[in-house]
Amino acid sequence: HDNGLAQTPPMGWSHWNHFECNINETIIRENVDAMISLGLPALGYQYVNIDDCWADFDRDSEGNLIAHPATFPSGIKALADFVHKSGLKFGLYSDAGYKTCIGNRAASLGHELQDALRFASWGVDHLKYDNCYHDGSPEHVRYAAMGEALNKTGRPILYSICEWGTETPALWAPKYGNSWRTSRDAKDRWKRVKLLADDNNIWAAYAGPGGWNDPDMLQVGNGRMSLAEYRSHFSLWALMKAPLIIGCDLRMLDKRYLEIITNKEIIDVNQDPLGVQGRKVSQQGFCNCLEVWAGPLSGGRIALVLWNRGWMSDVIIVKGHDLGLPLGAVTTIRDLWAHKNLPEKFTGSMQVKVGSHGCKMYLLTVT
Ligand code: GLA
Repeated sequence: HDNGLAQTPPMGWSHWNHFECNINETIIRENVDAMISLGLPALGYQYVNIDDCWADFDRDSEGNLIAHPATFPSGIKALADFVHKSGLKFGLYSDAGYKTCIGNRAASLGHELQDALRFASWGVDHLKYDNCYHDGSPEHVRYAAMGEALNKTGRPILYSICEWGTETPALWAPKYGNSWRTSRDAKDRWKRVKLLADDNNIWAAYAGPGGWNDPDMLQVGNGRMSLAEYRSHFSLWALMKAPLIIGCDLRMLDKRYLEIITNKEIIDVNQDPLGVQGRKVSQQGFCNCLEVWAGPLSGGRIALVLWNRGWMSDVIIVKGHDLGLPLGAVTTIRDLWAHKNLPEKFTGSMQVKVGSHGCKMYLLTVT
């Protein structure tokens, strides 16, 4: 999509994965303050995205969407102003149907231009647009309508298409939006991380600067997965050039979770200007659960995730030709979780022991 936005995958925070509908303007403001004090903006996290449940159930007498008076009493404009004063960008949510998904709030089908103009007047920088309670008309038509409305506002608004991959969005969404979901909702569950990664991988060829596959927001820090599982989740999302939208409560975040989402070397892989989605290049073992994922970066470098999806720690084998390296190429190997170079060089193959549900993430640079 050529609105000039999302030249690298969007980064930010959203309340949805942690708070769902139990949200109000105070919690948002406190999380914005936490984003600042944790130093997240300097790492690239810039969008503060309000998801479902900000709106009232009905429109006002002029047919405008309005904030829910009990939970967002100061209104959306005031919240957007607060976010902008903090140096961040503001995201909002609506739906290409008559009601939003879980919240059942008023939504935008048939009101696209009116709502887009309203969002622009509030200072919205990012719109996530969901797909519930619609009239059965084709998705690409309903999503195009909001895309065109956003363009008419004259305000650059990043457009995040949320239709769960049901109508092969990679084939049409790049024309209208800056990202499109490729699967179901993220859950704070290992099984779901595996599903989302595999579904998102199918569409790797369609991602690039301006438009990205979206395997949904991060669950790191919500507490139901192990540290190894969260590291795998974050590594894969980064390598797949997924939007990195933090989805935990930043006000009381355990330091070990914070270390994951603030791994600068891994964020740099995600934000690499080449913008090529890394993909699964090899599947190994009797379990078929030992995987190599890789993708090219600028400067001829290669990013690599060795992912053990199985129950036991095991050895994963990396071959140069799986990575697209010419025969005889020699590279340095940097471990992006240990933050150090390995003593050995990559000369065509290597074997690495990887713990159950864990991963290794490497950066290879040709010498
Ligand atoms: C859908 C979306 C989620 C979230 C909820 C809100 O399930 O896929 O990401 O926005 O709606 O109701």
